[in-house]
Amino acid sequence: MPMTQDPMKQKELTSRLMHIVGEDGVLVDPAEQDFYVNDWLGKAHGRTVAVVRPRTTGEVSAVMRLCHQTHTPVVPQGGNTGMSGGATPDMSGAQVVLSLNRMKRIHEVDPINNTLTADAGVILADIQKAARDVGRYFPLSLGAEGSCTIGGNLATNAGGTSVLRYGNTRELTLGLEVVLPDGRIWNGLRGLRKDNTGYDLKDLFIGSEGSLGIITGVVLKLFAAPAGRVTAWIGAQQLDHVVSLLSHLQSTCGPRLSAFEMMSGASLALVTQHLDAHVSPLEKVYPYYALIELADTNMTGLQDMLQTALSTAIEDGLIDDCVVAMSEAQSLSMWKLREGISLAQVKAGKAVKHDIALPISSLAIFTKEADQAVITSFPDLPIINFGHIGDGNLHYNVLLPINVSSDDYKTKTAVLNKRIHDLVAQFNGSISAEHGVGTLRRDELRRYKSSVEMDLMISIKRAIDPNQIMNPGKLL
Ligand code: FAD
Ligand code: MLT
Ligand code: ZN
Repeated sequence: MPMTQDPMKQKELTSRLMHIVGEDGVLVDPAEQDFYVNDWLGKAHGRTVAVVRPRTTGEVSAVMRLCHQTHTPVVPQGGNTGMSGGATPDMSGAQVVLSLNRMKRIHEVDPINNTLTADAGVILADIQKAARDVGRYFPLSLGAEGSCTIGGNLATNAGGTSVLRYGNTRELTLGLEVVLPDGRIWNGLRGLRKDNTGYDLKDLFIGSEGSLGIITGVVLKLFAAPAGRVTAWIGAQQLDHVVSLLSHLQSTCGPRLSAFEMMSGASLALVTQHLDAHVSPLEKVYPYYALIELADTNMTGLQDMLQTALSTAIEDGLIDDCVVAMSEAQSLSMWKLREGISLAQVKAGKAVKHDIALPISSLAIFTKEADQAVITSFPDLPIINFGHIGDGNLHYNVLLPINVSSDDYKTKTAVLNKRIHDLVAQFNGSISAEHGVGTLRRDELRRYKSSVEMDLMISIKRAIDPNQIMNPGKLL
């Protein structure tokens, strides 16, 4: 019998969940559930029969066995910082939210094998700190690192600001532990760089957005800790110049280039207007800015290297102005401007977000055509274009007024999605670069994936989750 909205059945389910994880591990009070049923962007809202918060993999397994038997849909949740609505239950009130936020143990840090083994509910910043404490470095870094979990990072295959040098979360992962929808535990917590014993199962679960199982543990790769960093902020007239600067820095600074982030003039203006104590490092305004970082295990000559490379770029007319940070405080204030864009957008309006990937060589021409398409349809709407340009990942957003009606929001979103995503497809890009598909891009996915790709994904989903209880309505 499928789980229904019958209050008696829900009460029974709740008490069985309490039996597994204890009374304090199940939240049924709507006030206590509030955080778990609304997303960070304020766009996704839902209801839940219960928020269940296990402490161990064994408890997750028992919860999943129960949900499998009772056909209860489960929405996995980490830090709830996702940007695609993937961690929010629907409005039925029949889904259980399974939060990993009490699974916070770091089990082992091995500086010789360069690995860290942890529960999925550990906050990303705590993973970074544990690596630092043994003189190593875990490079995944994003604006939400103080509240997102490593399990959520895995489930979304998060990108962030270090992909240019170290890759996405997928590339930083050696092993996984997963509780399957029927409660069985797959222990793949291996810290190996080579393991060709058949299909790479971990890669199925990374980026699966909670649709195939609950990630409960992980073995991550660690790296040599950089001795420090040099940060610079540049202003440029054209996006193609910023792209050429990227290429120039890759040639001159090689693997020391550890971040290359772009912000349009409108993105920076939004931040300085809506967030206190956020000031541009340059006096003049420019159509485009970039935040650049070099890092190395040996700092000797690093600042000179960046300064020389930027001087050449000015002589060649690629950039108009630049500031190299002279202190860690100056570097942090540059990063604050970049990381502030998400919050400034939430304060300023309702953004129609496009999280797209393109070949780096197409970024400038794509932006020109996309700007034209938006201006033709909606000449008054600000375009907030920024992103991880070193990875070809643009956050090409269009800002609607804060008081936009929900009908107007829906209509304009549909028009903008079609215009932007069609163009992305023309350039052989991806409509979902790093935030995941969730509910936000679920219909769009069907429009752009081939029927073969959709068939393969649906077959995998059916094989692993025959009762279709894992995060229904998300991704597929
Ligand atoms: P949640 O939001 O809780 O969940 C996200 C998805 O993963 C959902 O589908 C959920 O069901 C699933 N899930 C969560 N945990 C598990 C688990 N243990 N097992 C199975 N499924 C699970 N993202 C980037 O990629 N790059 C950025 O630069 C970036 N910057 C951000 C900046 C800000 C200010 C904010 C608010 C968000 C940003 N994000 C960014 C988005 C977000 O932080 C990431 O998607 C992050 O990986 C989500 O982690 P979480 O723990 O909050 O996951
Ligand atoms: C970022 O790069 O800042 C993020 O992915 C968040 C966003 O798009 O708002
Ligand atoms: Zn991003």
